[in-house]
Amino acid sequence: MPIIAPSILTANFLRLGEEIEMVNDSEADMIHLDIMDGHFVPNISFGFPIIRRIKSVARKPLDVHLMIADPDRYIDEFKEAGADNLTVHFETCPHLHRTVQRISDLGMTPSVVINPHTPVAFLEEILPYLHMVLVMSVNPGFGGQEFIPGTFDKIRKLKKMIEKEKLYTLIEVDGGVNLDNIKPLIDAGTDVFVIGSSIFSADDPAMTIRKFKNA
Ligand code: DX5
Ligand code: ZN
Repeated sequence: MPIIAPSILTANFLRLGEEIEMVNDSEADMIHLDIMDGHFVPNISFGFPIIRRIKSVARKPLDVHLMIADPDRYIDEFKEAGADNLTVHFETCPHLHRTVQRISDLGMTPSVVINPHTPVAFLEEILPYLHMVLVMSVNPGFGGQEFIPGTFDKIRKLKKMIEKEKLYTLIEVDGGVNLDNIKPLIDAGTDVFVIGSSIFSADDPAMTIRKFKNA
């Protein structure tokens, strides 16, 4: 069964408590939090006060996706705020091995995300240390964008790399996932699905999560 991580970026922030409750009571596996700084990506989302509040009511692990420049400065604070998995962009980390080590040492699972233009081959050496590789299937910064079809090839290549080395690394995909493309993405080797607008714009989000789960 696919692992489903609803992204609250497109949730109604005026009713955030209720939105988290909906995810708590649903068949979703994690809660995906998109952190944007207005530098690495052309958008600003939310930060520590919101994450702490979410953590205080969440009954699912927090999957935190950092779209921020120089993430090393804040790793400890994300742990303290309640992150369970911390994902950093390959493009923001000149000493990625050290960053991944620090995330692990603090007791979070370390994951790395690549932009659509970044080849999976760049991950060859770091792969054994990662809990998940997140493959962006849109350019990061906004919810509701269209899925980039080239993602399929990247997932297949990555799956081969993981199998060749007999690793347990999970493949996560983020951006433009819907009920039409989830099945082919599972077939290509995807384990974890970040889904924003397809869930939070649906009339019945919990039922939609169930449909994704049973895809
Ligand atoms: C994009 C974010 C995604 C986004 C996904 O920068 O990383 O998590 O919220 O939203 P949808 O599913 O609407 O593409
Ligand atoms: Zn994300």
